Amino acid sequence: MTHVVRDRAGLAAVRDGLPGTVAVVMTMGALHDGHVALVRRARELADHVVVTVFVNPLQFGAGEDLDAYPRTLDADLAVCERERVDVVFAPDAHAVYPHGQPSVRVAAGPLGQRLEGQSRPGHFDGVLTVVTVLLHLVRPHVAVFGRKDRQQLALVRRLVGDLAIDVRVEGVPTVREPDGLALSSRNAYLSEAERRRARAVPAAGRAADQAAAAGAGAHQVLGVAREVLADAGGVEADYVALVDPGDLAPVDADYAGPAVLLLAARVGATRLIDNVDVVVAPPGVSGA
Ligand code: PAF
Repeated sequence: MTHVVRDRAGLAAVRDGLPGTVAVVMTMGALHDGHVALVRRARELADHVVVTVFVNPLQFGAGEDLDAYPRTLDADLAVCERERVDVVFAPDAHAVYPHGQPSVRVAAGPLGQRLEGQSRPGHFDGVLTVVTVLLHLVRPHVAVFGRKDRQQLALVRRLVGDLAIDVRVEGVPTVREPDGLALSSRNAYLSEAERRRARAVPAAGRAADQAAAAGAGAHQVLGVAREVLADAGGVEADYVALVDPGDLAPVDADYAGPAVLLLAARVGATRLIDNVDVVVAPPGVSGA
């Protein structure tokens, strides 16, 4: 049976009663199969799984979708029950931030200001602040995050490294719809027509991956991805970047080796992100 707790005291009481190891899966609810994959990985890694469900106001900017963000707690609890989650922590804002807006926050640093951070100023400070609070409240041995939010995952790794937080961070591969679209709670905002256009985002990643496999260098890989987005029509690219898998620093044009292609695009009012691991060929090798 899944314990549902709504405040700090309730969480502390059930957490104290969990013997062995604990894995946490942090979510903003609206659970889908991507979250289920995180829960299943968490179950493999620890004796007990805690899922947190909290739409964190700190990580939404002005004009973003904080109010519209789907809130589906009953359905989320049914998913957690089915997946044999031990504890769901579904606090209100007061339980997470008892003194109102926290005056001390985590600063995500330079990586938090690039890519997603450039379009969403302050977003990662908000994410890392709530992740820190939740890590302290849940006291997990392992924290499981999706690789779909690649920059978030990289920043959480930096957080626990830089601030010496004793938790293992585990990244889980992206779960996709049959048409390739990465699962995201925000996909629910897409109309049918937008949904069709949104397929260009994963298609750009696949095309880049294929180009790299065929020997394309960094410059060509980026070009191929940008072209797919531009050709789609109605898909407004925000950024297409080829970065180092560790620190997400942009790679040089003559870089060869593993890299991550990061994509962000707007389809109608919905902003979608995706990423794909590629292996870039040295310049001059290209058969593409
Ligand atoms: O990835 C998310 O859903 C959120 O950013 C997280 C990690 C739950 C923090 O609010």
